[in-house]
Amino acid sequence: MAEHSTRDILVTSALPYANGSLHLGHLLEMVQTDIWVRFQKSRGHRCHYVCADDAHGTAIMLTAEKLGITPEEQIQRVQQEHERDTAGFLIGFDNYYSTHSPENRAWSEEIYKRLRANGHIATRAITQAFDPEKQLFLADRFIKGTCPKCKTADQYGDNCEACGATYTPAELIDPVSALSGATPVEKESEHFFFTLPDFADMLKDWTGSGTLQPQIANKLREWLDAGLQEWDISRDAPYFGFEIPDAPGKYFYVWLDAPIGYMASFQNYCEREGIDFDSYWQKDSQAELYHFIGKDIINFHGLFWPAMLHSAELRTPTAIYAHGFLTVNGTKMSKSRGTFIKASTYLQHLDAQYLRYYFAAKLAASVDDIDLNLEDFVQRVNADVVGKVVNIASRCAGFLRKGFDNTLTADCAEPAMVQDFIDAGDTIAALFEGREFNKAIREIIALADRANQYIDDKKPWVLAKEEGSEAEVHAVCSVGINLFRVLMTYLKPVLPAMAEKAEAFLNTSLDWTALSAPLTAHRLEKFQPLITRIDPKQIEAMVDASREEAPATAAAVGKTAPASQDAGKPGKASKAPAATDTIAFEDFAKVDLRVAQIIAADHVEGADKLLRLTLSLGDEQRQVFAGIKAAYAPQDLVGRLTVMVANLAPRKMRFGLSEGMVLAAGPGGEDIFLLTPDSGATVGMQVK
Ligand code: MSP
Ligand code: ZN
Repeated sequence: MAEHSTRDILVTSALPYANGSLHLGHLLEMVQTDIWVRFQKSRGHRCHYVCADDAHGTAIMLTAEKLGITPEEQIQRVQQEHERDTAGFLIGFDNYYSTHSPENRAWSEEIYKRLRANGHIATRAITQAFDPEKQLFLADRFIKGTCPKCKTADQYGDNCEACGATYTPAELIDPVSALSGATPVEKESEHFFFTLPDFADMLKDWTGSGTLQPQIANKLREWLDAGLQEWDISRDAPYFGFEIPDAPGKYFYVWLDAPIGYMASFQNYCEREGIDFDSYWQKDSQAELYHFIGKDIINFHGLFWPAMLHSAELRTPTAIYAHGFLTVNGTKMSKSRGTFIKASTYLQHLDAQYLRYYFAAKLAASVDDIDLNLEDFVQRVNADVVGKVVNIASRCAGFLRKGFDNTLTADCAEPAMVQDFIDAGDTIAALFEGREFNKAIREIIALADRANQYIDDKKPWVLAKEEGSEAEVHAVCSVGINLFRVLMTYLKPVLPAMAEKAEAFLNTSLDWTALSAPLTAHRLEKFQPLITRIDPKQIEAMVDASREEAPATAAAVGKTAPASQDAGKPGKASKAPAATDTIAFEDFAKVDLRVAQIIAADHVEGADKLLRLTLSLGDEQRQVFAGIKAAYAPQDLVGRLTVMVANLAPRKMRFGLSEGMVLAAGPGGEDIFLLTPDSGATVGMQVK
């Protein structure tokens, strides 16, 4: 990509379900996307950022019913809330729309007709569980019953939370509809399928094109190698969505029209702004198209969506950029701990830019999970943003205003140093472009350290008291302000409100394109406080408020189970977390913890995260699958002692039986530490 030519770029974040409030996990994605978009705009490219609410599906229909409102009212309420919250986080959408829109209906019908005309829609009858009371077909997660393996009651239709067994709802003992309590009956109906297997070759090419993250390309290759299945794109009435053309009573499955919602939102924006929509979507488009998504929805964006676009003779995405999941203080967000933090709750207590900065400091191009450690958060933001960056300006501004008419020196006293800072922009820009935000921030803060060091060495506050040193004070402070200006240019995509205040003070644009030489003989405006420190009390108040809030519906019912492909799902909060995290002593006493020796550790064919451990308890051996591959090489584990849960019910996994669990600490990914007992422990010993 030639650095000087202007690129045409269309960027999206995944469309949040119109079914509940946004939480900090959603914001991780939007902040990542927004920083990237603001960066592109700052570099002078034509970059458009669109999003929308994902308004269709059974879950939204049921929520509305529960609230006694129409689905239309429900999605309108939620959209207003989402728009308010995202504005609070300074997410600069060019358009925020809804999938329940005329543009989306038109495009969904059009694309469907093209697929059908090309022979890519199959029809056949399938048998499904049906709730005779609610007159509704039941997705697996709406059926409950007794586990066929361990006989625990009240388990969901696809897996048992007690023993981990997976099964089909038909295998449940005494199944009931989770909606009405009625016993489901089997019922046949006709469904429409998108013939995904026809696109195996096309998808292989697309996956191998080199623009995808390696982890995504691998995941897609795994699915492709396993063989694709036809994708059921229809649902029976009653359903909140778009009716399928020529098929009364049949509706598009929400995941068919959701990605088309990207196009619809963009079209709505193009019509308002007079932009040429087709030049972005036609097959030979030169524009770039990027979808930022979470790792749980890779199958939809990496398989179904490009295949649909291809069949409909539209362009495919330039890349999809997947990120990991947000954890708070090292674990899944938890309501009882007060770490399931809604966007609006955060905003009642803290400036959005703190979190934008912290996310930027942690985000990389990989799909690893990101941890928001609240102590580290306070420390990091206060030290870097306030202690380092703002500090440069606040140490220099006063002297310039008092003694030098608020005007910078006619010549820059340290042109080489200022040029160094400007030259670092190439490296920093490449890091932003590659979504290595954490590395970009590291570079920027290293420069801030250098700027502070320069001011510390020169000590303008000492010089100011010496007779005859006025010129030097002026020179040093002018250099300081110039360095601050360069740093704020780099930080503007991350800290847009602070940058706006800095632009007012510096009396200049902080766009990347405006950066070429030091400012000289330049008049400043009044310095205004840019941002204040975080007081840890604000965090406490936010956590307390989150603990008290009623459970958000988003986590409980917001997810629609992926259709025919396994999404390699992360530990997302799809089932409502328990109301309390404490357990009775008797429950704890049931856990049999033992010292075990790792006698073998092996890679597992086809598993990204797992190692197969063979553990010795002295008199017996156990096979355990542990998600520690990113942190440990097998050879480093053999011979070590660890602690295992010895009486965990065996769990059948895709790769074999797992007979227990090893204990580890940390947020996951590379940061996971196997617990190892102190010397003196022996194999088989009970841990108390
Ligand atoms: N409606 C679908 C997306 C359709 S896109 C055509 C959906 N909605 S969602 O509300 O469940 O999630 C929206 C985005 O937020 C997804 O990319 C999802 O991965 C992301 N996240 C939801 N919870 C998250 C975390 N805890 N952490 C990081 N991202 C998370 O999926
Ligand atoms: Zn069970």
